[in-house]
Amino acid sequence: MSIKTPIEHFTQWYEEAKQSEPSDPDAACLATIDSNGMPNARVILVRKIDDRGFCFFTNLESTKGHELLSSHKAALNFHWKSLKRQVRIRGEISTVSKEEADGYYASRPLGNRIGAWASLQSRPLESRDTLIQRVEEFENKFGDDPPRPDHWGGFRLSPTSIEFWQEGEHRLHNRLQYTLSGEDWNSKVLYP
Ligand SMILES: Cc1cc2nc3c(=O)[nH]c(=O)nc-3n(C[C@H](O)[C@H](O)[C@H](O)COP(=O)(O)O)c2cc1C
Repeated sequence: MSIKTPIEHFTQWYEEAKQSEPSDPDAACLATIDSNGMPNARVILVRKIDDRGFCFFTNLESTKGHELLSSHKAALNFHWKSLKRQVRIRGEISTVSKEEADGYYASRPLGNRIGAWASLQSRPLESRDTLIQRVEEFENKFGDDPPRPDHWGGFRLSPTSIEFWQEGEHRLHNRLQYTLSGEDWNSKVLYP
């Protein structure tokens, strides 16, 4: 396959990672900044990838939710240890449509859907028992068909730059960086 866009390049590497990573090839480190410009990073699962960008799902009222909704910027880093590769992505953040969030929510196991109601993600938790009680509360309330909570949804990172990094011998790694210019992607090779 001849690679035309960084998304095609990403797709090819991602397919290879699915074959070789022992778990979660879709896991990536998501970096945000808070209102003081202080960076924050955590791992999330990137569940949908297409020409528009990289989508992940979370509690919109979590720390990352607030940071994404106020800065509208983020970075993602995939590290596939089995392949000695990383992909660094930076870009603009938007929320996915209600329909996309509904579709993904409905595809999740029941326990995860209840968990999205029970967890006040990122806020202080008094005790584990409180969480278990909240899970039971929402199980009793919704049975096996909970609706998607309004506070739970997805974000799309629309990339403005994507770098492909492959480990090389003697730390002479290979780096290929694509940057978006208007509607076109420019690429350059970087020193390791
Ligand atoms: C492998 C892995 C996958 C994860 N996937 C998600 C995810 O898709 N969505 C999510 O909200 N948190 C996910 N988490 C938990 C986050 O890392 C984080 O603890 C949580 O979202 C709270 O982050 P925040 O307080 O910065 O909002 C995952 C953690 C790991 C280790």
